[in-house]
Amino acid sequence: MEQPARLVSYSAMQPTGLPHMGNYLGALQNWVKLQEQYDCIYCVADLHSLTVRQDARQLRKRSREVFILYLAMGVDPERSLVYCQSAVPAHAELAWILNCYAYMGELNRMTQFKEKSQKNTDNINAGLFTYPVLMAADILLYGANIVPIGDDQRQHLEICRDIAERFNNLYGEVFVVPEPYFGEAGSRVMGLQEPEKKMSKSDSANENNIVYLLDTPDVIINKFKRAVTDSGSEIKYSPNDKPGISNLLSIYCAVTGESIDATEAMFDGKGYGYFKLAVGEAVVERARPIRQKFEELGKDKAYIDDLMARHTERTYALAKRILGKVKRKVGLLS
Ligand code: TYM
Repeated sequence: MEQPARLVSYSAMQPTGLPHMGNYLGALQNWVKLQEQYDCIYCVADLHSLTVRQDARQLRKRSREVFILYLAMGVDPERSLVYCQSAVPAHAELAWILNCYAYMGELNRMTQFKEKSQKNTDNINAGLFTYPVLMAADILLYGANIVPIGDDQRQHLEICRDIAERFNNLYGEVFVVPEPYFGEAGSRVMGLQEPEKKMSKSDSANENNIVYLLDTPDVIINKFKRAVTDSGSEIKYSPNDKPGISNLLSIYCAVTGESIDATEAMFDGKGYGYFKLAVGEAVVERARPIRQKFEELGKDKAYIDDLMARHTERTYALAKRILGKVKRKVGLLS
């Protein structure tokens, strides 16, 4: 009997920096888990990075590092596809087509566009504005059923769904309308120094605010020891009154898989200092094997080059199928 095809999980990260614990707990660790049930495709979204000025050498280096990091954290290249967005031209092609089915009004409502254009007043480029359309193209090219992301990408996924539905209403069932996937904890990790704001790669003002997946154990522990806490001494989840402790509780739960209630009970009466150290140690233990594997894989240039080439070819072959269908539907010669 023929096996039913598995559903597809698709996601991506920009190589504008190495992943921090927000990226990892909010999205990347779920990518790995979903391999059990889904056919997974994970992308290094380098084209998206061009919406903010990048140093060319640094971007190439980071793209490769992020590719290696996906493997190091457990994306299995025997089961899943990993590739770099710019190596598969179908993304840019579909993005252009979808631009003609996306409305200025809906793009104007994107909070990330508003935030980024406030931060980059000297470079509010058209790419920054149509960024969600390229993201929609990424997802729709592979018929993704679910998209594991952090909370800050929720609005982009909604616009992707709207574009897909609009296109399907005009041309029939061309695109799968994807669902977002959020983990139970960690979909919005906040800064350790500013727990009212999400942990973000573009915010490099205070390095103690961000914990990177590849930070050394000492650095991780120190950053957690310095984490801002709140008045009082109770370890209780209450994001409005206790943003610092609530963030640390979420991080602990996302790393260990424990529930908030069980964690509160476990640390009842233990004090902030003890708890901060425990969170730091849990993060260190999670990050340690990833860092080791990252260093090991980084030494094997031939293996990485070969894998990149093979996976790009397979991914492009998949992308061409849906792109071809779209082109026929809209009347382009193929
Ligand atoms: P990016 O590179 O900003 O972030 C990668 C993933 O990490 C999540 N994330 C967080 N999760 C929890 N807490 C945080 N503080 C935190 N910061 C970031 C993001 O939600 C994301 O899931 N546009 C995307 C990349 C992209 C993409 C795609 C994603 C391009 N094409 C197609 C999904 C599908 C972005 O800039 O993510």
